Amino acid sequence: MSEQPVFDSAGRAYGRPAATFDEKLTQSGPGTPGGELLRRYWQPVARCDEVADLPVAVTVLTEDLILFRDKSGNPGLVYPRCMHRGTSLLYGKIEPRGIRCPYHGWLYDTQGRCLETPCEPDSRVKEKVRQPWYPVFERFGLIFAYLGPPEKEPRFPAISLLENLAPDEEVVAGGSCRPPTGQHALFAGHQDFNWWSFYDNFMDPVHVFVLHSSINGIQFVESLNILPEVESEYTDDGVRTVQHRRLEDGRVHQRLSQTVMPNINCTAGVSDELGPSGISWTVAATDSSYRFFTLNVVKKGVDPRSNMRSLGMLRPEWGPGKPYEEWTLEDHQRWQTDYVTQKGQGDVNLHSDEHLTVIDRATAMLRRLFKQQADKVANGEDPVGVCYEEPYRLKVMAGNSLLDGDTLECLDGYDGRYM
Ligand code: FES
Ligand SMILES: [Fe+2]
Repeated sequence: MSEQPVFDSAGRAYGRPAATFDEKLTQSGPGTPGGELLRRYWQPVARCDEVADLPVAVTVLTEDLILFRDKSGNPGLVYPRCMHRGTSLLYGKIEPRGIRCPYHGWLYDTQGRCLETPCEPDSRVKEKVRQPWYPVFERFGLIFAYLGPPEKEPRFPAISLLENLAPDEEVVAGGSCRPPTGQHALFAGHQDFNWWSFYDNFMDPVHVFVLHSSINGIQFVESLNILPEVESEYTDDGVRTVQHRRLEDGRVHQRLSQTVMPNINCTAGVSDELGPSGISWTVAATDSSYRFFTLNVVKKGVDPRSNMRSLGMLRPEWGPGKPYEEWTLEDHQRWQTDYVTQKGQGDVNLHSDEHLTVIDRATAMLRRLFKQQADKVANGEDPVGVCYEEPYRLKVMAGNSLLDGDTLECLDGYDGRYM
């Protein structure tokens, strides 16, 4: 009788349970806990200059919608299927009073009122139908929409960073209602996975040391190639990380990065530039895609690429030396970016596979807070930051600075106070 070889079967992949994702985090559709939380806030859906003389298809929180600007300049956001016989208003004609369906000419204003039915001008049908619509308004170069219950529409927050600008400063809007292409995708990703895999990353300060510095050469700046000491703390409305890197000259480089409920982040730049961060929104499009919008305060007339300041600029010598759209699989394997690590988690990260450790503390805090807020909404309460009378005061408190190594007093840059 031949002896059977003895194998240790522990840990083999065979027979493992199917991995699952956290639905409360990742689902953003109507009626889902996370989706109803996100719907309680104004969300950016496009840059103002993306909406000109033609309608634009946008997908927000899993809803396909049409964004347009009537010839009087007012933006409107409507359900795409015409309430007559359902053709898409993406092909509608923009007119001074609204958008006209190309099929039989029904004209809708920015709040979905049917103003004309030209094939039956005397019909009273226009008094009975309304194209479903959402409120929108323009601020700081972005178009914001509110997709939640009408009786719960909040005031737009007062964002401390964007108030009281110096005369030589201005707010610059970045991002797009469409996914980025070409070199731009190198910074902002292709946005073709669940929004949480991108949002988690803002509360992940130590990956800067590995992914962006030590694994394959310094992507941004030398000073980030130090493993930071990190403290994570809850703020009034989110989570903040305090990151200290002890420099050779005895000073301390401090990065403060912040998330604000439900999908805002203010992230210190990955550059040697000192000063406050900008503010950004990661907005679910579908449950396996998102859009990213930024507002930064810059000196007037600076290079428009400063839009991406909060993400940093890659060193020109880093990478395979060809345009991003030409990178092959091998290039991506040799030159890893935020995009491949986040897309590498799948279209939706499978949370049951994770083993969170001490380095994931801020990520875990952020997820916990989001789910608590979703539970509040499900229980009929208002989530944090939603105000109806006075605007909520959204305090930005993130950025880069240099500290005295002994006293930790701020020597230069953003001093850590509310802006
Ligand atoms: S389908 Fe739009 S007017 Fe007929
Ligand atoms: Fe990153």
